[in-house]
Amino acid sequence: MATIGEALSAGTSRLRAAGSESARLDAELLLGWSVGADRTALVAHSEAPVDDASAASYETALQRREAGEPVAYIRGIKEFYGLAFAVDRRALIPRPETELLVGEAERDVAWRLTSAPRPAGTPNVRIVDVGTGSGAIAITLATLLRKRRMLAEVTLVAVDCSADALALARENAVAHAVADSATFVHADLLPDSEPPFDLILANLPYIPGPQIAELPIAASFEPAVALDGGPDGLAVIRRLLAALPGRLTDEGSALLEIGYDQGPAVQEAVAALPGAWTCRIQADLSGQPRLAHVDRSTLRPAAR
Ligand SMILES: C[S@@+](CC[C@H](N)C(=O)[O-])C[C@H]1O[C@@H](n2cnc3c(N)ncnc32)[C@H](O)[C@@H]1O
Repeated sequence: MATIGEALSAGTSRLRAAGSESARLDAELLLGWSVGADRTALVAHSEAPVDDASAASYETALQRREAGEPVAYIRGIKEFYGLAFAVDRRALIPRPETELLVGEAERDVAWRLTSAPRPAGTPNVRIVDVGTGSGAIAITLATLLRKRRMLAEVTLVAVDCSADALALARENAVAHAVADSATFVHADLLPDSEPPFDLILANLPYIPGPQIAELPIAASFEPAVALDGGPDGLAVIRRLLAALPGRLTDEGSALLEIGYDQGPAVQEAVAALPGAWTCRIQADLSGQPRLAHVDRSTLRPAAR
């Protein structure tokens, strides 16, 4: 029977040979998942034996990872903004870059709810997460607003064109106890039945189609509809931008995650919209321009 330390080093070698750039981390996550312990415990108990059932589960996990499957799909879980999301091949694995959008959305909603008096009868702030996938954006935002006691003052809609992704998002909403605070809608972009929104959030597919085949093999396990943004990556985002004039309230904003090199093209598309608009591109923590803030130009105080 191998020890934890032996299983880790054998797994690391196998995954490195299979081309993983994070072989040690992958092996730790997969062994930890197989034995039911976290990574710290593995290090602390490297002399402990791995029992037969855990060894069999670890072997299966290693084989799946050797074939290129992402660790998150193998474990069935991904951490996003400090929350655990169930993930599987029905939807994209939430990425850390998207946490920027969620943080900005929370700030925006808090500003809307506190910058002016809200006498009884003031309508809820209407928010939509377009292309919700696993539900990472909508559900995380709901949990953040619940902590601030603001959840009752928002109406939250989560949309996806994939029924499979929506089913996963609903499961995650139940797991985080916010299923009653959001409506999940199967639609292409913004559902016709919904009145205008104050805040439109979207992490839509933005990889240029021709580049999909060049992505690491792990991406081939994710749904193509979550990645493929058409010839230049902006086909879906441009359709959403074109819809903004009719689907945002007069004081509404949109926050869109984009590729690091797509800022100028997105600003050009916003400039072509009827009416006066602003589009500011915000960099993420690694300095990459990744978040487009789209507003009607006249209405928002610059520093809020
Ligand atoms: C990049 S994934 C993002 C998933 C999730 N929001 C996240 O940040 O992890 C894009 C999502 O948009 C959905 N999608 C693609 N085209 C869409 C469309 N026209 N209308 C609605 N959803 C769409 C895909 O099914 C996928 O779930």
